[in-house]
Amino acid sequence: MRVRLAPSILTADFGRLADQIAAAEEGGADLIHLDVMDGRFVPAITFGALVVEAVRRATTLPLEAHLMVASPASQLAAMAEAGAGRLIPHLEAAESEPGGATGLVAAIRELGCEAGLAISPGTPVDAVAPLVGSLDAVTVMTVHPGRGGQPFLPEMLPKVSALRELLDGNGFGASLEVDGGVKEHNAALCVAAGADTLVAGSAVFNERETPARALAALRYRCR
Ligand code: DX5
Ligand code: ZN
Repeated sequence: MRVRLAPSILTADFGRLADQIAAAEEGGADLIHLDVMDGRFVPAITFGALVVEAVRRATTLPLEAHLMVASPASQLAAMAEAGAGRLIPHLEAAESEPGGATGLVAAIRELGCEAGLAISPGTPVDAVAPLVGSLDAVTVMTVHPGRGGQPFLPEMLPKVSALRELLDGNGFGASLEVDGGVKEHNAALCVAAGADTLVAGSAVFNERETPARALAALRYRCR
């Protein structure tokens, strides 16, 4: 199974975002991960549809919007309109929406987007298990959402394995993503646990090396 690499633009240089995106695309990224934060679900505010649109213009790669927002239902249409092909709200926020997570997934599908759900470190697999069959992606947070550059939480890996078992055991096709603190030294652990998509922010966009070299190093660890 070819592991998909999804650079997160959270730690990219926003003064030259189009160049950074192009470098990630040339460097072999499979999709771009957009960390939308509203200052309510998490303390930080990052960006909204305007930046998603700018990224859409800068690459032909698929875009997934990781919605770390308190009221995801209100953001879906704008994100879809801006060009995000996959929308990934948090289960923890979905549950307080009218219609709950099921309603949110249906609303995402009605917009013609792929539907994902992210679970924070404190949320057990059992909370998302009943929904997995209806999803295109499940994202296991391996950091507490809200910031880039945090240390990886290895104690989340059993959640990845449990979801891999659930997906394969039922023939479900959702992507299984790991998001947060993914680096060269833990990428192979994530894949061994069953992840097929690695989100990486500061491992790809940093001062030390080009996105291409960083992606090549990550890809090598996942071979
Ligand atoms: C955290 C974000 C992640 C993460 C990516 O709230 O959802 O996408 O920060 O950045 P790194 O890889 O630096 O943790
Ligand atoms: Zn993210």
